[in-house]
Amino acid sequence: MAITTRQLIQWKQKGRPIVALTAYDYTIAQIVDNAGVDLILVGDSLGMVTLGYETTLPVTLEEMIHHAKAVRRGVKQALIVVDLPFLTYQESPQQAIHSAGRILKETGAQAVKLEGGNEAIAKTVDKLTSVGIPVMGHIGLTPQSVHQFGGYRRQGKTPDASARILAEAVALEQAGAFAIILEHIGVDLAKEITEKVSIPTIGIGAGVYCDGQVLVINDVLGISDRQPPFAKSYANLRENITQAVKEYSLEVKERKFPQPPSL
Ligand code: KIV
Repeated sequence: MAITTRQLIQWKQKGRPIVALTAYDYTIAQIVDNAGVDLILVGDSLGMVTLGYETTLPVTLEEMIHHAKAVRRGVKQALIVVDLPFLTYQESPQQAIHSAGRILKETGAQAVKLEGGNEAIAKTVDKLTSVGIPVMGHIGLTPQSVHQFGGYRRQGKTPDASARILAEAVALEQAGAFAIILEHIGVDLAKEITEKVSIPTIGIGAGVYCDGQVLVINDVLGISDRQPPFAKSYANLRENITQAVKEYSLEVKERKFPQPPSL
């Protein structure tokens, strides 16, 4: 049975950790889904890891929809959440409904994710959920604000900043979000938020006390050309792929592949 947003909330209540990973194409989504991951995020990190942009800011709604459709075709079980890219939801709740509605209608994904938790964003989440669009929040280090932060820095370092992030989590829950990503914040703050809200927190660089964890698939597979300090690689595919390509090149140059016809 396909995993639902309600299921994630039940897992939090039972203390069953939630496993999330990003995916951006059919093949990887199929592998990740078959391996039993609960939630697949078509993150706008695709701009950096598959499209080669410097940040996530240039990613368009069309690009997200294109990749989310491919992911959808590969997935049978996992809940699919798709990022709303920069400036496709911040202008007004109407703009957010239009963008999120297109994602749900055109891709078949079950939910969207957006960044931030201030009053305006909470109002937008409230509007989206009121028309039946499930929303996942994302607070702490929100990569679409990288230029405002002056880099990919840990957030919530002062008591004021921590209090603001905690208030954002509460506001997102009250607005109807079904889960919240906590990115690159202190372990204690993540623990406090996780205990305070009744919806699941999914951490990335936020320590062990979150209700679940998410990583970028390229980092997990060891294929990224750079990765954040909190990521962990479980394979070294960059090296494996390089070796495979070199071996193939050599065999072509030496006329060993394809094999000559046997006489
Ligand atoms: O875009 C993304 O992949 C994300 C995760 C890093 C949480 O937002």
